[in-house]
Amino acid sequence: MPLEFSAAAYRYGHSQVRSGYTINNTVPTRPTFVPDSQLPPAGQVFERRRADFRGFTRFGLPPQWTIDWPFFFQLDDQGPQPSLKIDTKIAGPLTTALPGANQDDADLRSLPRRNLLGGAALGLPSGQWVARAMDEVPLDPLQETPLWYYILKEAGKTSDYFASTHDVAPTVLGAMSIEQPRAMQGQDLSVLLDGKDPEQRRPHFTLGYDNYAWARDDRYVMFGLNDGSDAKLYDIEADPSMGKDIASDHPEIVKRMFTSYILNDAGGPVPKY
Ligand code: HEM
Repeated sequence: MPLEFSAAAYRYGHSQVRSGYTINNTVPTRPTFVPDSQLPPAGQVFERRRADFRGFTRFGLPPQWTIDWPFFFQLDDQGPQPSLKIDTKIAGPLTTALPGANQDDADLRSLPRRNLLGGAALGLPSGQWVARAMDEVPLDPLQETPLWYYILKEAGKTSDYFASTHDVAPTVLGAMSIEQPRAMQGQDLSVLLDGKDPEQRRPHFTLGYDNYAWARDDRYVMFGLNDGSDAKLYDIEADPSMGKDIASDHPEIVKRMFTSYILNDAGGPVPKY
């Protein structure tokens, strides 16, 4: 595995970690880590193991700490707690309180510092150097930015294009200048980084899962059973957090989205499973 990947690129996940997590309705939200100095004294073993998520105590996890999965995946109306954005910000506990590290050493208890020092010790090239090696115009071309940070800075870019998981493989291939096999129907989104548009216009988006179908465009989100029944509709311009189902007020929009988006994209009726 290339060092550029393990010591920099794939560590992007550090910016997604939250400063605290709720795991179920019983246990109060806990910080990801508290600094060792703020942990309950060593004798208070049960309070200590409930203080944060570091785990690996002699007594294992408290019995109430079972994960209620809707807090982590979209399984109900409430929705999961989101991971943080992939960008240059890192949650506080990861910068000051890494467990297991010598807490007197600020370099060791900070994950960003470890990533940066590790990159330097391994002799990683700068982000600008890697960008030039990939024939890309680097950000901030007169600087030499550590690769891990550079990649997070690049990731801060956003686009309104409706992206989905079937775009991942074509995008990775596109970034490596490899033509995607014809069987792959997704779009190469790496072109967005060069300020270009993907080949396929995508003014709306549809997907199916089990016996459900889902569609959205710039204005509305609609989902329901894949025979068109039991639909919910949200006006995401007026109601971005999707609190009010307006399907019964606008059956014509539900019908239009089902027919001209879902049935049209599916090429006919959607199979029942
Ligand atoms: C609470 C969450 C996490 C913690 C506390 C954590 C902590 C760490 C630590 C302490 C290291 C070693 C740093 C060093 O001394 O160089 C490390 C390495 C690494 N982390 Fe994380 N990490 C977390 C989440 C993630 C996520 C979500 C990803 C990716 C999606 C990730 C990817 C990596 C990779 C690729 C390495 C390098 C592994 C290697 O070179 O063998 N980490 N992490």
